Amino acid sequence: MTIYDKFSMAGKTALVTGGAGLLGKEFCRTLAEAGAIVYLADFKMEIIEKALPLLKEVSASIRPVVINVIDPESIQQVVDQIVSETGRLDVVVNSAALDPKVDPEHPQVMNNAFEDYPLNFWQDGLSVNLTGPFLVSQAAVKQMVKQGSGSIINLCSTYGLVGPDQRIYEGVGKQLTYKPVFYSVTKAGILGFTRYLAAYYANTKIRVNALTPGGVENNNDEQFVKNYSSHAILGRMAHRDEMSGAMLFLASDASSYMTGSNLVVDGGWTAW
Ligand SMILES: NC(=O)c1ccc[n+]([C@@H]2O[C@H](COP(=O)([O-])OP(=O)(O)OC[C@H]3O[C@@H](n4cnc5c(N)ncnc54)[C@H](O)[C@@H]3O)[C@@H](O)[C@H]2O)c1
Repeated sequence: MTIYDKFSMAGKTALVTGGAGLLGKEFCRTLAEAGAIVYLADFKMEIIEKALPLLKEVSASIRPVVINVIDPESIQQVVDQIVSETGRLDVVVNSAALDPKVDPEHPQVMNNAFEDYPLNFWQDGLSVNLTGPFLVSQAAVKQMVKQGSGSIINLCSTYGLVGPDQRIYEGVGKQLTYKPVFYSVTKAGILGFTRYLAAYYANTKIRVNALTPGGVENNNDEQFVKNYSSHAILGRMAHRDEMSGAMLFLASDASSYMTGSNLVVDGGWTAW
């Protein structure tokens, strides 16, 4: 087997939640290019329909499905569909999240100071970002146990490793004044969940790892890009396809001796 064979996803099935997102689309594209059948799962068909034209080169391998990652019934339906259509489920990328950003595609206004942070925002964040990966993994791993193998990848963030420097968000328009508290807390929690699940499936071929991206540029406010980039050793934000190699590594047999780990791809952001 060559090193290229180890990265191959031929004959494998993958589920990407939040598959219509900025990184979600790139994860779907990469897994499809590597040979997998990919279920692009997102919250609403309208969101998925906007993403599909951007994936037309790999459309033959992409199967769109609607999922709500906080609804066990909706998740089970998707897993049942995947198993009935392909007979297996090899990879789950838990990418769906509430992730307030500073770009035109994410026009949420998130300017609540910690002192006034609304309880319902906190609870929604915990639900989607932590309960979501818990429920999706719970449903998917049943099939992985049956087939005796699987790879689960949980999306973390640099803000799960270090606290947000809120000065980065100062003076970047009305969109985001503070990176909200739930984001850091849930992304730190995802690392605990990753280690728990990896350890739980000890002595099996079910592997669970986290991937930690740094900030990905998406037509952001110029001042924000400058602020953010000055924190990265590489002096810039990430391009949207720069997490794909790490994700494919974790998804494939190329990382067969890796579980319970966190792969950080942040341009050195957390190294100084
Ligand atoms: N983009 C970045 O700069 C960056 C940096 C670090 C970490 N991350 C993490 O990487 C992952 C992917 O990021 P992204 O940029 O693609 O995010 P994104 O915000 O562009 O996409 C998230 C997707 O999740 C979907 N979603 C939200 N709630 C859902 C629900 N209940 N059920 C199903 N789908 C739901 C949304 O519809 C959206 O398409 C996220 O977990 C994010 O926190 C992103």
